[in-house]
Amino acid sequence: MSQNDLIELLPTASTLNGFADDVKAGLLATPKRLSCRFFYDDHGSKIFEEICALPEYYLTRAEQEILKTNANQIAARLPADTTLLELGSGSAIKTRILIEALIGQQGILQFVPIDISPTILEQSARELQQHYPKLEVNPVAAEYREGLVRARQLVSGPKLILWLGSNIGNFERDDAARFLSQVGRCMSRDDLLLVGVDLRKDKLVLETAYDDPAGVTARFNLNILNRINRDLGGTFDLSRFRHEAIYNDDEGRVEMYLVSDVPQNVSIERLNWSVEIGMDEAIHTENSYKYSLAEIDRLAERSGLSLAEQWFDNRGQFSLNMFSAVD
Ligand code: TRP
Repeated sequence: MSQNDLIELLPTASTLNGFADDVKAGLLATPKRLSCRFFYDDHGSKIFEEICALPEYYLTRAEQEILKTNANQIAARLPADTTLLELGSGSAIKTRILIEALIGQQGILQFVPIDISPTILEQSARELQQHYPKLEVNPVAAEYREGLVRARQLVSGPKLILWLGSNIGNFERDDAARFLSQVGRCMSRDDLLLVGVDLRKDKLVLETAYDDPAGVTARFNLNILNRINRDLGGTFDLSRFRHEAIYNDDEGRVEMYLVSDVPQNVSIERLNWSVEIGMDEAIHTENSYKYSLAEIDRLAERSGLSLAEQWFDNRGQFSLNMFSAVD
């Protein structure tokens, strides 16, 4: 892979203005919020890799276990010239399990990873390319929707689309169904979609997974303020905010907040604007929705996909769901 092969949407003045407008709208809202879309800059993506290695963050290991146990069976279902596509691939460590199963079966493989962070993408593409001579990697640096459109131009023939890590949980339930149905419209009869979905479970297990004692998750959440400081000339003092993760059992979601320790005024140069934040006032940053099995069925129904197969890890914490487009 050469530098030119990386299809990338560069941060332009208009994306920076979009970021600025989003930040302002969110901080003017009641309650205040900041969009989780801005977590995954290069630094954020690296901290997220650290989260995945935390003992409390069971999601990554549970999903990995499911993939290890079932990769060959999954590969066996696919036509011989299948292309692998991945949404939010990050370092693509878990993906290696499927890559190996697919190369084992079809000899060669085209892999199209789609990720918002060009640095992580480039690095993982290079590593994969070196490690697997039979693999052709065509990375696409973009958000999901643009990425899918671009990826389609690179791919012909049957495809397996991956959306791992329960990233679906960061969508509102309605939006998740809507997005899956959009993905479904890009799929033909032979195509399959594999989605990792975290399951509803005990409050303490969930809250610890999203608020680890080593403070890695806190750093990840706080990084969004760093990014505002760096890109928009903000004056957030990170030491005056704390990370909170609360499981809302009714909604089935972990809610993430940045809470102000003191009353403070923060200015944002690019917006020529400043905002008051009260003591103990919370800024909502992210939800991570958890699903029951009934909710996964309902998701399939609403997105017009059919749930062809479903696997779980040994402890029943996480699910991997294989969808096909309904005929
Ligand atoms: N997709 C991840 C998840 O919901 C994102 C995530 C993990 C996250 N930990 C976080 C987002 C902490 C914000 C804060 O599991």
